[in-house]
Amino acid sequence: MPELISGTAVTNRNRTANMLKTQWYVCPLCGNVISAAGEGAFHCCGIALPPLVPEEPDESHTISVECMDGEYFVRMEHPMTKSHYLSFFAAVTSERVTLVKLYPEQEPETRLPARGHGWLYACCNRHGLFRIPLPKR
Ligand SMILES: [Fe+2]
Repeated sequence: MPELISGTAVTNRNRTANMLKTQWYVCPLCGNVISAAGEGAFHCCGIALPPLVPEEPDESHTISVECMDGEYFVRMEHPMTKSHYLSFFAAVTSERVTLVKLYPEQEPETRLPARGHGWLYACCNRHGLFRIPLPKR
């Protein structure tokens, strides 16, 4: 129904898309995070959410990754204040999305399972979505 109202039709051509094509939607009002296996029409707080377009990290959003004990230790030197913080880290492979939600005042770091090839995402509430390839183990 929201698609009909907005007049924007979403058609996913590849119905067997793997999770590497995951799309991210973040509500700018409440911070809700939605991951979808393909593009879709999602609304939150009365707003139609466009899919976030991931960018290569800039110098203030550099993602550092170390592999230890079968996990990635992921960290970004980044503010974690109430107005500017990392909202989540996520590891995405062809079959799995692992999302770790972060909150203000926490450390900007987490551990993620080291499995397969894919993408490592970090999302800043002010500057958007960044991603790098998951490093080889
Ligand atoms: Fe930021």
